[in-house]
Parts: sequence; structure tokens; C-alpha cells
Amino acid sequence: MTILDRFSLRGRTALVTGGSRGLGRAIANALAEAGAGLVLVGRDGPSLESAARDLAAAGRWVGTVAGDVGTPDGAAAACDAALDLGRPIDILVNNVGGRRLDVPTEDIPLADWQRLVDLNLTSALVCCQKLGKPMLDRRRGAVVNVTSIAGPLAIKGIRGRHYETAKAALAALTRSLAADWADRGVRVNAIAPGAFLTDPNRKWFGEKPEFRAAFEAHIPMGRLGEPDEIGPAAVFLASDAASYVTGTTLVVDGGYTLW
Ligand SMILES: NC(=O)c1ccc[n+]([C@@H]2O[C@H](COP(=O)([O-])OP(=O)(O)OC[C@H]3O[C@@H](n4cnc5c(N)ncnc54)[C@H](OP(=O)(O)O)[C@@H]3O)[C@@H](O)[C@H]2O)c1
Repeated sequence: MTILDRFSLRGRTALVTGGSRGLGRAIANALAEAGAGLVLVGRDGPSLESAARDLAAAGRWVGTVAGDVGTPDGAAAACDAALDLGRPIDILVNNVGGRRLDVPTEDIPLADWQRLVDLNLTSALVCCQKLGKPMLDRRRGAVVNVTSIAGPLAIKGIRGRHYETAKAALAALTRSLAADWADRGVRVNAIAPGAFLTDPNRKWFGEKPEFRAAFEAHIPMGRLGEPDEIGPAAVFLASDAASYVTGTTLVVDGGYTLW
């Protein structure tokens, strides 16, 4: 086996929540290029079908599940639908999440706090439960949780600290689940992205050039990330190349967290 063979995902199936657009799609593309079949989960059917068509054109098996994983019940239903597709899921990428709300913590209504903690944290737990158990039974699997540099830090110039809180908890869940599952064949790791130029971010930073300049000034590499720069990290953590890696968070941020 060559060193590059260890990165191959041939014969595996990966489920990516939010795999139809943004960083999730970049991760799905990378996993597919490494050989994996894909199950894409998202709310909007046409975007899912369009992403699935592109991946299928590259020769991969692709299944789709249209569902909202932002609630625990929705996440459970989406996982059940994915399992009904009849392919064992070897790789779970819990990618759906987001800040969504920019309000001071002293003012956030508890219903919003709970909804956004569910979106960023509880749904990932539910997916780990639903799809992790069959992995434990097979004694083989890899989970990759998408956290954020906002987990260990409070991002300057934007509020909504439900996001920092939930992402920090997702990193803690990653570590503790990794410890619990380490001797049962299932690895659990995380990727913490910095700021990436997904389509919504490109628009948002475009409308706030002063915020973009301040943000970039804080990044040692001096630029925001391109979505396709996240995929290789997911391939590494999902593959046998990371066979002795569990419980870690791989930071992909151009150095943002160094200063
Ligand atoms: N972008 C960044 O710079 C950045 C930085 C740090 C961390 N992150 C993290 O990286 C992850 C992905 O970020 P992103 O910016 O790519 O996200 P995004 O643009 O908000 O999400 C895009 C994908 O998620 C799906 N999605 C959103 N909400 C969903 C829900 N409730 N149920 C099912 N699917 C849902 C979307 O499809 P539908 O809309 O059709 O459902 C789409 O496929 C998030 O966890 C985010 O916190 C991102």
C-alpha cells in the first residue's frame, strides 16, 4: 500500500449534512474524488439534486435525503431516511450549523438560543447516535464534526454567542465521544474552519468591506479561505491516513487563531 492509498475512500459511503452547498459541498466533492459514495442531506430538493448530479457525473454513487437536520427530530428522521437507502454509512460529516443571529447574549430569547444550540450541537449528537451505533456494531467508522474557530474564541465585531458556545461544546463532544469509541473502531474528529468565501460569505463580506479588511488583517496569511481548501482536511480525517488520529480538531484558518 502506498502512502496515497491510505487516503483512498474507495468502497466507503459518506453522509454529509448540508452537502448541497457551501463547505459541505466542498467536503462532499473531496470525499467523492477520494473514491467515496455520498449521501447528501439538505432541505432544498433542487439544490440537492443538482449537487448529486455533479457527483454522479464524476462516477460516484449518490443518494439524497431532503430534510431539516436543525432539530433533533428532523436529524433523527434524516438519519433514518439515509439508513433506508440501504448503504452502510462509514463516514459521517456533521457539517450543518451557523450563527444565523447577531444579537447580544443579554437579549437573546431562550427559544432562539435553544433552536441554535440544537442546530449547531444537538443535531450532531443525534446523527452520531443514529449513524454511530451501526458503525460501532461493524467496528468501523469515522465521524468528522465541523466546528469553528469561534469555538475556542469570541469572534470580534459580531455577536450571537450561542454560536461560540455550541461550537465549543461540539469540540468537547468530539473529544469525549472519541475517547468512548476509540477501542470500538470508530474515530471522531473535528475540523475548525476559519472564514471561507462561500457564496453567502462572499456576498456578506462584499457588503461590509471594512469588516473584511479587519478580518483579513487578523489572518497571518492575509486572506480568507477558498471552499475547496477545506476538503483535503476532511479526506484525511475520514481516511485510513488518520488511522491513529482521534479526538482532535484540525484547524483550517490561514493562521487566524495564532495571534
Ligand atoms: N463558511 C464559513 O466561513 C465557516 C466558518 C467557520 C465554520 N463554519 C461552519 O461550517 C459549516 C458549514 O458552513 P457553510 O457556511 O458552508 O454553511 P451554509 O452555507 O449555511 O450551509 C449550506 C448547506 O447546509 C444546508 N443546511 C443549512 N441548514 C440546514 C438544515 N437545518 N438542515 C439541513 N440542511 C441544512 C444547506 O442546504 P439547504 O439550505 O437546502 O438546507 C446547504 O447544503 C457550519 O457548521 C458552519 O458553522 C463555516
